[in-house]
Amino acid sequence: MILVTGAAGKTGCAVVRVLVARGAAVRALVYRPSQVGLVWELGAREVIVGDMRDQTTVKQVVQGVRALYHICPNMSPDEFTIGKLVVGEARSAEVAHFVYHSVLHPQTEAMPHHWGKLRVEEHLFESGLPYTILQPAPYMQNVLVGWDSIVEDGVYRVPYAVETRLGMVDLEDVAAAAATVLIEPGHQGATYELVGTEALTQTDVAAILSRGLGRTVQAQAVPLDVWEEGARVTGLGDYQVKTLVRMFRYYESHGFWGNPNVLGWLLGRRPTTFATFVERTVRQKQAPPIIRH
Ligand SMILES: NC(=O)c1ccc[n+]([C@@H]2O[C@H](COP(=O)([O-])OP(=O)(O)OC[C@H]3O[C@@H](n4cnc5c(N)ncnc54)[C@H](OP(=O)(O)O)[C@@H]3O)[C@@H](O)[C@H]2O)c1
Repeated sequence: MILVTGAAGKTGCAVVRVLVARGAAVRALVYRPSQVGLVWELGAREVIVGDMRDQTTVKQVVQGVRALYHICPNMSPDEFTIGKLVVGEARSAEVAHFVYHSVLHPQTEAMPHHWGKLRVEEHLFESGLPYTILQPAPYMQNVLVGWDSIVEDGVYRVPYAVETRLGMVDLEDVAAAAATVLIEPGHQGATYELVGTEALTQTDVAAILSRGLGRTVQAQAVPLDVWEEGARVTGLGDYQVKTLVRMFRYYESHGFWGNPNVLGWLLGRRPTTFATFVERTVRQKQAPPIIRH
């Protein structure tokens, strides 16, 4: 049995789907009763509803699992507290393999959510647990947040300069790599950076979107204060807004990218390019909806 925490989130669903497709028995930890149906449909064998910050819940979910894939909620101020709790309970339950979903360059102190993940990694090293750490680049799927204005207005809006250079990775490739390290032997003690593309400017990204959509798309920088106002209107919390602002400033000052070689080696093929991701997204958006009875 493999436990996936944060299982109903964007990353969790992708990982559960691939694990099930590869024949693994999955126990899913979800936050709300309303998320249970989603992970059942993905094929999870067991679903537990609970809070990762709660020791009783964490103690219960780690019981009897061979391996676990720990995904902390996105932009959580509790990343380290949750990480320590999950590592501690996994150790007490003698879990044989702890795989941690970290982030590319957790060493960047200027980004608090990266720094929190570095501290979890350090705690994991010191726990004595057999571990693997995956460090994904920003997902290509983040572009989907602005998909409608890309398609309808031909504008790709980003809260940093359009010259900002970023590497990206397809979440489907991340999930495939996660399933490989969880199912196949030989990955204990490893830390893998998961990067799919070379560093692309936002103008490069817009040019690839233009080709994939068959219409002109232009990258446009949104001033940070305008972005912040919009984010607060959507109800995003203060910690999340401030942390994202710091991340966007870091991106603009330094860029953020890595190297795709490790991911290519883990997948046994070239990682998905951004052009392929756009083609796939266009196909999926055009497909008729699946109606379930
Ligand atoms: N997005 C990227 O480009 C990227 C790149 C690299 C790494 N990452 C990392 O990937 C991780 C997952 O990101 P994501 O976007 O997949 O997250 P997500 O969609 O927000 O998923 C997190 C899941 O955890 C649930 N959750 C929230 N609080 C919880 C709690 N206290 N106890 C149990 N479950 C709880 C959420 O439920 P609710 O929805 O009900 O709150 C949601 O189902 C993050 O740690 C992020 O830093 C992201």
